[in-house]
Amino acid sequence: MFQDITTLLLDHKAFKDTVDIFVDRYRDMGISVVAGIEARGFVFGPSIALAIGAKFVPLRKPNKLPGEVISEAYVLEYGTDRLEMHVGAIEPGERALVIDDLVATGGTLSAAVRLLERMGAEVVECACVVGLPEGQRRLDGKPLYILVEPR
Ligand code: PRP
Repeated sequence: MFQDITTLLLDHKAFKDTVDIFVDRYRDMGISVVAGIEARGFVFGPSIALAIGAKFVPLRKPNKLPGEVISEAYVLEYGTDRLEMHVGAIEPGERALVIDDLVATGGTLSAAVRLLERMGAEVVECACVVGLPEGQRRLDGKPLYILVEPR
């Protein structure tokens, strides 16, 4: 099943309402880091970070970040991939939100959580616009907030 969020971005009100729902949820939770997953976590994450007074940290696909990185592998339907984060982007003890457009198996979000926790961050919650039915399997009990769950 393929879910595409680009049509949501064409509608200013729908796009703003989507960001505002996340902002309302996270503005008073003491979050200092919004970590967005490449590529479509970059669409929503920076707006949320600016509105709640947090920094934005990009979690990128391999060999994109110029500085020293730590990386975490995750399993795809065919093969594996990796997410990378700059060393020093996060201080131990910071409270983090992980944002992406979509969760399917949860493998990508789980790799993001492992990256942040290796740097000493506390992952308060993961959040996605769309959740496919099998989406919470690999999150190991980490809270996951989903706006839309198509049947
Ligand atoms: C999609 C989506 C999530 C991930 C979710 O990205 O944007 O990041 O899949 O899948 P999962 O829950 O099974 O891990 P994709 O892997 O297609 O990469 P892209 O953003 O580079 O297109």
